[in-house]
Amino acid sequence: MKRKPLIAGNWKMHLTIDEAVSLAQEIAKSSQGLEDKEVMIAPAATALAAVADAVKGSPVIVAGQNASWEQQGAYTGEISPLMLKDAGAGMAIIGHSERRHIFGESNAMINQRILGALSCDVIPVLCVGETLDEREEGLTMNVLELQVCEGLEGVSSLQIEQVVIAYEPVWAIGTGKTASKEQAQEAHRFIRGVLGDLYEKRLAEQIRILYGGSVKPENVDDLMAMPDIDGALVGGAALQSDSFDRIIHFT
Ligand code: PGA
Repeated sequence: MKRKPLIAGNWKMHLTIDEAVSLAQEIAKSSQGLEDKEVMIAPAATALAAVADAVKGSPVIVAGQNASWEQQGAYTGEISPLMLKDAGAGMAIIGHSERRHIFGESNAMINQRILGALSCDVIPVLCVGETLDEREEGLTMNVLELQVCEGLEGVSSLQIEQVVIAYEPVWAIGTGKTASKEQAQEAHRFIRGVLGDLYEKRLAEQIRILYGGSVKPENVDDLMAMPDIDGALVGGAALQSDSFDRIIHFT
């Protein structure tokens, strides 16, 4: 089965509501008529509802930047997957390296978030990736395997069809250093192999694995040409409509 490429923009802690709405409108315009690709944008929580409203009727999917494992309750600062849906989001980034490394989220916590999102029909994008030290010590594949296996614990064969994985080497995020297309392909192939051990091979072949880490107009075409790279999770270059537009229209 052919995997439909997904280009995702992670706006992190940027943009006011007005700025987010105008960027979203431009992205909605440049995504019109795209049938062979999907486009996702993840604004800050304050702008979610306004952005969802702004892209209504376009193919753009709105996402949260995280999701709680609970649907409601005494969890100050958290946003539940039901609230994401209420605001118009259909997807959520989970386990981003900034959540793991700045806010100390563990694989177990990330796993709970994945299960919580799935239980509310919010599609999770599970982010995995090694640090520079881990790569230099030759631990990349061990780290990826653990993050994938622990992150997906309890996710059924039926649910895994919904899940998107994003491989984001920590050393490439926001640094301008991109993994080479060969390094990225090797990691993606490895992750697909791990998915094939956890689920049926047929399912592993259907799951989309995005690459993230300094994706820009200049490198997107090369990355997207690799057989196991099914899309991009874009930070910095997603904040300008012209660069994101070029990334969406990769060749
Ligand atoms: P970057 O961020 O494109 O700015 O490296 C990617 C990400 O954090 O998802």
